[in-house]
Amino acid sequence: MTKNVNGGMTVAIDGPAAAGKGTVAKAVAAHFGFAHLDTGLLYRAVAAKTLKGMDAEEAAQTLAPVDLEDPSLRNPDVAQEASKVAVIPAVRAALVRFQRSFAARAGGAVLDGRDIGTVICPDAPVKLFITASPEVRAQRRFAELSGKGIEITYETVLDDVKQRDMRDMSRDQAPLKPADDAKQIDTTEMAIEDAVAAAVALVEAKLADRG
Ligand code: DC
Repeated sequence: MTKNVNGGMTVAIDGPAAAGKGTVAKAVAAHFGFAHLDTGLLYRAVAAKTLKGMDAEEAAQTLAPVDLEDPSLRNPDVAQEASKVAVIPAVRAALVRFQRSFAARAGGAVLDGRDIGTVICPDAPVKLFITASPEVRAQRRFAELSGKGIEITYETVLDDVKQRDMRDMSRDQAPLKPADDAKQIDTTEMAIEDAVAAAVALVEAKLADRG
């Protein structure tokens, strides 16, 4: 499991799509020199394969690092499909070991996703749950996709966000929810720099505790 027997620091960051968890995770990792894993990419990479006709469980079991570099993983159709394959217990099970060994890196690790604080790293010393209203998240995702030249309307993005939230929160296994001991940060009206500063302060306090 992720008990930090190696002395490393594991930071677990969860939350719904486009709440800012990726930005916070990257900034915290850069600040402390920790490795960062965007676990959504694992589900997206499985999804990209199932969209090409592969069986989801097989796709999860045979996932290779190069599969995470496919630029199409950021597309909205892949995101929707990722949320669908993420419901399948065998897919989740196939991805657990990789995530836990990443979390146990000696130099420290930040993982962001939906079930990091609850299932993947229940012993992580720092847990964050980052949220924002669906409308603000859709606005951010819409700006990001439009900026990449992807043609999509705000309404479609909002619909996508709500559908994914619903599926991610209501599945039986590892549903999206804050761990009991997670610090919640709502970025609806907060500048992302402030969310980063709050996260950095939490990690610093935990490192200081350890002496
Ligand atoms: O974080 P993201 O938007 O890239 O995630 C895509 C989908 O993958 C998300 O809708 C649900 C799934 N996912 C998951 O079930 N568990 C994770 N730890 C990360 C992502």
